[in-house]
Amino acid sequence: MLKEITTERAVFATKIGAVATTVGSAVGLGNIWRFPYEAGVHGGGAFMICYLSFVFILGVPLLIAEFVMGRGTRANVFGAYRKLRPASHWNLFGILGIIASLLIISFYAVVAGWTAEFCLASLSGQLEFASEEARHEGFMTFTSGSNSVVWTLIFLAFNFMILIGGVTKGIERASNILMPIFFLLLLAFCINSFFMPGFGEGMKYLFYPDFSKISPSVILGALGQAFFSLSLGLGCMMTYASYFSDKNRLGKTAVTTAFLDTLVAILAGIIIFPAVFSFNLSPEAGPTLVFEVLPHIFYQLPGGMIWSTLFFLLLFLASLTSTVSMSEISISYFSEEKGMSRSRATALSAFISLVGALLCAFSFGFLSEVTFFGKNFFNLFDYLSSNIALPLGGMGCSIFVGWFVKRKFIKDQLTDFGTFKFRLLNILIFFLRWFCPAAIFLIFLNSLGIL
Ligand code: PHE
Repeated sequence: MLKEITTERAVFATKIGAVATTVGSAVGLGNIWRFPYEAGVHGGGAFMICYLSFVFILGVPLLIAEFVMGRGTRANVFGAYRKLRPASHWNLFGILGIIASLLIISFYAVVAGWTAEFCLASLSGQLEFASEEARHEGFMTFTSGSNSVVWTLIFLAFNFMILIGGVTKGIERASNILMPIFFLLLLAFCINSFFMPGFGEGMKYLFYPDFSKISPSVILGALGQAFFSLSLGLGCMMTYASYFSDKNRLGKTAVTTAFLDTLVAILAGIIIFPAVFSFNLSPEAGPTLVFEVLPHIFYQLPGGMIWSTLFFLLLFLASLTSTVSMSEISISYFSEEKGMSRSRATALSAFISLVGALLCAFSFGFLSEVTFFGKNFFNLFDYLSSNIALPLGGMGCSIFVGWFVKRKFIKDQLTDFGTFKFRLLNILIFFLRWFCPAAIFLIFLNSLGIL
């Protein structure tokens, strides 16, 4: 299946494999865990409308820009900037992306560890018998205890093992099979939501936009969520595109990725919010929201334990396909720019992630009092990467491709050197030059209270 090209860089073997892998990176905790909690904290429908707009008017053009840079240069994020503009400082955006990827893995691994713990707790029936209070208490004790640290480490070990085995084969195969199963499972839970007493209220909360709730923090939060969920702004999609074959239609892949990723987030919302209102929980619970709501849903179904185990297992695996893509950013940088062997590069990336992940895991324990601007390590890493670094990286990439990459280069990438048509080139370039950077800049000003 795996095909090597002359430059010795791996290539995703099939077109469908490339799309599945890209979707595998995009779909993960961002959709199932982060989207409902952010939507809940930021007022539901108001957040949703901003999020959807950002995915399609900013996310899609920026995804295409990353794809063009990655596939066109066949390089890591730093190398892509360097190759296109040697002797300039643009590659600092590459460095920013690499730092962001390591920050994200740090808190992501902690949450992925929770999914593993929940998977096992479902299997042993622990989640079923706990009362509502006991479940809440249990979750708090778990996140603040050493258990959570152990699970974080286990998750990172899995991540490491997949990566050390090479880029594509394992990831590609796993994504091809698991993502469709996960999708079907989500659909089944959505159907179940229709029958919940809180369905109407949940839907209204999620989809009815109360415009008075749109504030700078809602807008910035939605922007960060759109970038986070699409794995955008840090060179992840650029790195993956560097493994695409020449035949891949970049425009189509971008639209498909954005569509499927958003669909999964919406499905997660349809699963979570009706349950929140049916069981009288608060939508504003924050990062623990999904972990407190889901067991309620599973255990009123026949065979709850099986549903629960399966769900958390697949979520764990979906998280792995995302962290593998995040890790690939720094690994390809260390190996291609710093001349390290792939295994050394993988070990170094794993080590940095490990240190970061420990800081985040202990944020729920003895480091909970260590805060910066009122945020512990976990929240700080999340905020700095999702709300600052990713939009900033996206803005840089947009300006770079819009203004400094030759039009012919972009066109060749989008049309496979003239093999097929890409009709929206002018609009794309307009968006990359003006619209996307300006929109992101204005959102930043707005969130600083300047606008
Ligand atoms: N998009 C992934 C998710 O939704 C997270 C991610 C962010 C992956 C950045 C790669 C890079 O879970």
